[in-house]
Amino acid sequence: MEKFVIHGTGPLEGSVRISGAKNAALPIMCATILTKDKITLEDVPELKDVTLLTEVLRGLGVKIEHPEPNTYIFDASEITNTTTGADLMSKMRASFCVMGPLIGRMGRTENSLPGGCAIGTRPIDLHLKGFRALGCSVRTEHGMVCAKTDHLKGSTVYLDFPSVGATENIMMAAVLADGETTIDNAAMEPEIVDLSNFLNKMGAQVRGAGTSTIKIKGVKELHGCRHQIIPDRIEAGTYMVAVAATGGNINIENVITSHMRPVIAKLKEAGVEIYENGDTINVISNGTIESFDIKTLPYPGMPTDMQAQFMALATLAKGTSVIIETVFENRFMHVDELNRMGANIRIDGKNAIVQGVHKLRGGKVRATDLRCGAALVIAALTVDGKTEIEDIYHIERGYENLIEKLEGLGAHVVREG
Ligand code: UD1
Repeated sequence: MEKFVIHGTGPLEGSVRISGAKNAALPIMCATILTKDKITLEDVPELKDVTLLTEVLRGLGVKIEHPEPNTYIFDASEITNTTTGADLMSKMRASFCVMGPLIGRMGRTENSLPGGCAIGTRPIDLHLKGFRALGCSVRTEHGMVCAKTDHLKGSTVYLDFPSVGATENIMMAAVLADGETTIDNAAMEPEIVDLSNFLNKMGAQVRGAGTSTIKIKGVKELHGCRHQIIPDRIEAGTYMVAVAATGGNINIENVITSHMRPVIAKLKEAGVEIYENGDTINVISNGTIESFDIKTLPYPGMPTDMQAQFMALATLAKGTSVIIETVFENRFMHVDELNRMGANIRIDGKNAIVQGVHKLRGGKVRATDLRCGAALVIAALTVDGKTEIEDIYHIERGYENLIEKLEGLGAHVVREG
């Protein structure tokens, strides 16, 4: 079994460069389906999820070159297939983002229901509501979702919740629709803005991304372009929380600081010193953590993808912290694992009550999902002794060169198995 073996080493020191954002790269890779021209993407993180999505896209007929690390060239001149089966779909929820572009380009798509991290029920009703509004007939049967239209037409879609994936899927279908589409209560995440910027470089007419109302004027066709993926705000936040927990002084390079507002604010509340300088953030911690409360919310609120890491930090805070998860149900699977390391966390519905302890202890734990894995890595870095983290494939879905980056900061992490 593959695992990380981590020996706590005290304060982290040094610099780390943040990779391109996984959650921006995945939908943008799907959007390459929308043109017959070649697309070059730069700063694509080398991650399992990216490799899986290249398999999904190749299965549809997209030719993909990988001339150098982090650069991919997509050629969707011929789409030979509009179906993705359960084998690939079940491995990664983001592969569902091929549906919008396939509807836009081909007027049809058939997909197995998506997989991904087991965090809550994660329905797809909002995606389907959007496709229906654009004139698709949508059927779900035998674990497959089939959407079809002869005439994709602009429309108004109200999202009952600002779903990131639904906003992206509807945007990608609507760029080639006849007429104007409005998405109300759209997600405002930076990854939506990156997708919008990319689509507009291809010749689309998308306005308002980053606000709760997105307007898309359909165009006849899109063309090729080159695009650099934005830095990963969750990866940056994870390293910031890690140094807060271990103590130390690190520079986080290649960040868009405006994307980091909730993380910066919360770390300052916890007593961490943070200095912003262009695209670098300097984080200094003496390892003493004040307790803090967190409520996850859609952007610009605290990202749910940072909840587990902040919980790892709260386990070592002076006093009691309350963490409320409002975005996903059942996103507390890291609690049992952190408690196994000596944390004192109690769940009450959507709330986790974290009573800080002086020290965590090592042992064997399991990454139950991607951000749980990140939280366990942070916890392990603070332990006097050895921690073994199993099921690390979850962690490798989302963190590029994690071992090299942590070693560059002075940590001792070995991958075994
Ligand atoms: C994306 C991110 C994920 C992040 C999440 C929330 C990617 C590849 N993944 O996931 O890392 O944790 O945003 O910031 O970008 N919902 C519905 N119906 C739907 C769709 C969603 O009820 O049709 C609900 C979900 O169950 C969940 C909430 O909306 O409770 C948020 O989900 P959503 O924003 O869609 O997350 P994803 O796009 O799956």
